[in-house]
Amino acid sequence: MTRTFETVGVVGLGTMGAGIAEVFARAEMSVIGVEADEAALERGRRHLETSTARAVARDRMSAEQQSALLGRITFTTSREDLADVDLVVEAIPELMEYKRGLFSDLDRICKPSAVLATNTSSLSVTAIAATTSRPAQVVGMHFFNPAPVMRLVEVIGTVVTEDGLAGEIADLARRLGKTPVTVGDRAGFVVNRLLLGYLNHACGLLESGLASRDDIDAAMKLGLGLPMGPFTLLDLIGLDTSYEVCEVLFRESRDPRHAPAPVLREFVTAGLLGRKTGRGFYSYAEGAPTVPEPGPRAAVSMVGIVGSGPEVAGLVADLDAAGFKATVAERSDLTPVADADVVVALSDRPVVELAVRLSHPERLVGLHLVGDRVAEVASTVLTSEEVAGAVQDLVTVLRRTPVRCGDRAEMVVDALLYPYLNDAVRMVDSGYATAGDIDDAMRLGCGYPAGPFEMLDSIGLERVRDGLRALYAEYREPSFAPAPLLDQLVTAGVPGFRAYAR
Ligand code: CAA
Repeated sequence: MTRTFETVGVVGLGTMGAGIAEVFARAEMSVIGVEADEAALERGRRHLETSTARAVARDRMSAEQQSALLGRITFTTSREDLADVDLVVEAIPELMEYKRGLFSDLDRICKPSAVLATNTSSLSVTAIAATTSRPAQVVGMHFFNPAPVMRLVEVIGTVVTEDGLAGEIADLARRLGKTPVTVGDRAGFVVNRLLLGYLNHACGLLESGLASRDDIDAAMKLGLGLPMGPFTLLDLIGLDTSYEVCEVLFRESRDPRHAPAPVLREFVTAGLLGRKTGRGFYSYAEGAPTVPEPGPRAAVSMVGIVGSGPEVAGLVADLDAAGFKATVAERSDLTPVADADVVVALSDRPVVELAVRLSHPERLVGLHLVGDRVAEVASTVLTSEEVAGAVQDLVTVLRRTPVRCGDRAEMVVDALLYPYLNDAVRMVDSGYATAGDIDDAMRLGCGYPAGPFEMLDSIGLERVRDGLRALYAEYREPSFAPAPLLDQLVTAGVPGFRAYAR
């Protein structure tokens, strides 16, 4: 028997729940939105009004369509009003005892044929299902923030889900204009398992002092073309949610990558939860951010470049066009750059061993060009602030965004990217999801320009494997060791991951 879903209940009208209610109402379904009390209900109603008003302001929707959409949503504080709905999607806070209480209520209230879905980001759908007398009719239906915009829905079936139900929920997601990816019940599913590892890693790099919040955000947004840097995204998701998801991931995986970074706990304890409270990594109060005064700069007329190949030739040409003289040295003989005002060593690996071979070690920085918009500028422990500042300015003159960082393997972008790609390889190797589904999930759930396997193939398996080896040698973090499958594909000379996984 194929079900029809026409009337849907959404419990919890916070950021996610209100967005989910909007998605159903946009698909012309009747929605009953439930909140715990009048104040929360009013916040949910305002959220829906604001979100749809934005669509009207952008000519994406007429005022008549907006009022028809809002007219399809009934607001209530009584769960009992869900007696006749075909489906309930729960979007309340990520606390198992709240979910258990709600699902046993829903089980009692809703008609026997109703499907109960949870939008949990990470909790066990199986454990939630087990609190009801209809575990076969309980699934995960996981939307992404902002729900009206992001095109992915993860559909989670458990070992007890009725045959065919996950497929029906996937069809429903298509009717909502979304792309479903159907997977089993593991902490974090596809997206959060990969995304939160990366976001938590960014917090770790910030705490280690490798680079600043703004530099890391700029590096990932401009260097990789992601819609947001990690700290902007953490603030969007909510630092409390991010912390909770990491906790749950860690509990299941025991992978230190998922152990919540202390800075997350600190923000959460202080009540600074991100955009929703007006402050997290960033402050969302009115007023322009203050731009720090630039520090003292070394005067530059001659730039020394250490390196070889087309990147060096391109840099020399760009410097020449900007009115600077350049002199080039190979790593084996640094004599030609000995008297340069600043020395940039093109590298994605530590450069301090080059600095110590110069009579002016304070003049050397590492420079890593990322894509065509970003240049990472790595200061060694010997680099002077005047030199680092001068190279930062030079990079700006060359129309790239400078990212200041410490002298560490893979600097910022690749240090964050490669372990994420490694995690994706491990996920395929474990049989949890296919490379194609993972690529779709990351593109549509997070707005990434490409999925991890598309990125892996365009960078090259060997380069990523070698980068991971360098990261492992530097940080000794077990999860940075290349996944055995990646290593084997490189050894076997397989040209790309998708060629193997097809
Ligand atoms: N509600 C409704 N619509 C919204 C919106 C919101 N909160 N925010 C933006 N939009 C709409 C805008 O109206 C606009 O629509 P049109 O193109 O139809 O005019 C569109 O989205 C683009 O918005 P903007 O131009 O204002 O802003 P932008 O281009 O910077 O995009 C963004 C904003 C869509 C949020 C984009 O930055 C993005 O994709 N960021 C990544 C978000 C992400 O990774 N989400 C997943 C988080 S993980 C998660 O949610 C799972 C979990 O369990 C933790």
